[in-house]
Amino acid sequence: MKSTVVLFSVLFLCIIAAVSGAASTALPKGYTSWKKSDRKVVTDKNSLFYGIHYIYADKKAQIGYLSVNRFAEGSRIVVESYTIKGNPAIDGPKNMIVLMKKDKRQTATGGWLFAGFGVDGKPSGLDPVTTCFGCHKKDAAQKDYVISTKKDFRF
Ligand code: HEC
Repeated sequence: MKSTVVLFSVLFLCIIAAVSGAASTALPKGYTSWKKSDRKVVTDKNSLFYGIHYIYADKKAQIGYLSVNRFAEGSRIVVESYTIKGNPAIDGPKNMIVLMKKDKRQTATGGWLFAGFGVDGKPSGLDPVTTCFGCHKKDAAQKDYVISTKKDFRF
């Protein structure tokens, strides 16, 4: 009897851990050592990425880019964005970090988890459906919702 109680308590704790793990997305550690894109400058002030940005792709995402944007479960892509302060040839202060992670449970956003972070790496709490997915659906529905392509990297 006692062991059943212990077993159920352990199971319960596992479920709590799994659920809270899914709810709070952390910025992957060490993403700056992933494959890095060329430096991209966007001078259109209406763009979300107005400024300078770099895209980082993990191993699975690199294979996805090389497969003409077909990404396997678990692929991760991070964008680091910097402001333009005067001279666009120099990166201004960092202002935003965003993440896409292929996760088939995220059916409302094309099977990708979208998350935004502040420069401190803490979640910015943006709603992925209303804040993120619109542009990606419009611009890249035929490319697995990933707008950039292998041309953005030097493979
Ligand atoms: C205004 C339109 C727009 C919105 C809103 C938007 N994105 Fe994007 N996103 C883009 C564009 C355009 C690119 C491609 C940048 C490039 O080619 O360098 C991109 C690229 C990305 C990438 C790199 C992979 C890819 O698709 O090329 C990630 C990761 C990403 N966005 C995450 C997010 C997240 C998370 C949000 C919500 C917080 C978001 N985006 C909201 C337009 C948008």
